[in-house]
Amino acid sequence: MIETTTSSEAARVYLETYGCQMNIADSQTVAAVLRQAGYGVAIRPEEADIILLNTCAIREHAEDRVIGRLSDLARLKGSRPQLQLGLLGCMAQHNRAALMARAPWLDLVAGPDTYRRLPELLGRAQSGPAQSDFAVDVRLDRGETYADISPDYESGVRAYVTAMRGCDRFCTFCVVPYVRGRERSVPPADLLREVRALAARGVKEVVMLGQTVNAYRHDATDFAALLRRLAEVDGIERIRFTSPHPCDMTPALIATMASEPKVQPYLHLPLQSGSDRVLAAMERGYTVDQYLDLVARLRSAIPDLALSTDIIVGFHGEEERDFAATLELLRAIRFDSAFSFKYSVREHTRAHRLGDSVSEAEKGRRLAEVIALQEEIALERNRALIGHNFAVLVEGPARRGAGKLAGKTPQFKTAVFSGTAAISAGDSVQVRVEAATGHSLMGAIVASAQ
Ligand code: 5AD
Ligand code: SF4
Repeated sequence: MIETTTSSEAARVYLETYGCQMNIADSQTVAAVLRQAGYGVAIRPEEADIILLNTCAIREHAEDRVIGRLSDLARLKGSRPQLQLGLLGCMAQHNRAALMARAPWLDLVAGPDTYRRLPELLGRAQSGPAQSDFAVDVRLDRGETYADISPDYESGVRAYVTAMRGCDRFCTFCVVPYVRGRERSVPPADLLREVRALAARGVKEVVMLGQTVNAYRHDATDFAALLRRLAEVDGIERIRFTSPHPCDMTPALIATMASEPKVQPYLHLPLQSGSDRVLAAMERGYTVDQYLDLVARLRSAIPDLALSTDIIVGFHGEEERDFAATLELLRAIRFDSAFSFKYSVREHTRAHRLGDSVSEAEKGRRLAEVIALQEEIALERNRALIGHNFAVLVEGPARRGAGKLAGKTPQFKTAVFSGTAAISAGDSVQVRVEAATGHSLMGAIVASAQ
């Protein structure tokens, strides 16, 4: 959850964000739209005239969390009847009727393609008693990229920039194509303008975002070509992207990752399952062998590549042997990290009507096994880096360890090390790894990296 803050005397908005990087980036666009319309920003919900929750619909658990939070926030209306409560993002789009039944105190519901109209919607919601003038806009818009709106980025050495929106893949389990609509790419000229402006503000690393970011295409510019153009921006030292789809990892993109020094050797490559039967039922578009072949080509082109992935356990029809195949594949590939989830049936998706054959308890057992195995692998992989040096882009003080600094290696691993007064955020330093956990590397500075 990220909270966005500034201050003003105008009606003040408290904005809380749930879910993925795309949502965090969207909230920065929302913040820019509202600021330009004269709204101020509240640091705490208690100080706000308007509370907006930017939400995630990917799993039921994410939705339940938001409903819980909304009912807490709705209590503030008791003492401040003028307070407006709005819900943005994927949940808004997903199931408005059910949402209204569960959260009748909502004044506004706005889907991911309607943020440009938020000032108007807020005005409408404000003009009378709550339910009668309830404002809602969940129309999806094939053309909306917000290309002309420069988001209110958080400060820091890294910025997340939306390159494309939506998804055309329709994996059978996934609600994203329904809540975010069809794929559309931001024109390269707008992205270059944005990234140049970020560089001018001292940003050193950009992460290009999209639900299937490597499906990016605008006229003749595909994703590999976009990365090469972004790499020409002076001041930007590191370029990353997330999340790519395995089927869109073209030879040109792999070659660009291998040859362009600014494009970092890290890839989050969602696998979902290690069983061909399950992959077919999910309609992921690849087999285990094809995925393995892609990993082999990536690792041979980019020898220092770090790989992470997403795994779903307990998809409808997943049997013990399918699950065993997932564990086996995790052991064979040895990802640097993995995000693992219990399958959550989502309304509107094609898998919704198939059913939910794996019990909650069994999903829990499978999830725990995947996590335990992956922790073991991550620890082994990180320990193997002890004694090696990495260029670390310094982000600032480490969360833990007084006086320590933290930053990321090219492989997007967190490195924690003792700083000196001469080193500050945005510097690059060489760190020798001295110890490791499954989640971070601890070390000492050996030299400035440049
Ligand atoms: N249930 C569980 N996990 C899901 N994901 C997407 N949809 C679902 C679902 N219905 C996971 C996938 C995806 C990640 C962002 O969320 O692993 O890659
Ligand atoms: Fe969902 Fe599949 Fe699109 Fe990823 S590629 S957002 S999992 S439908």
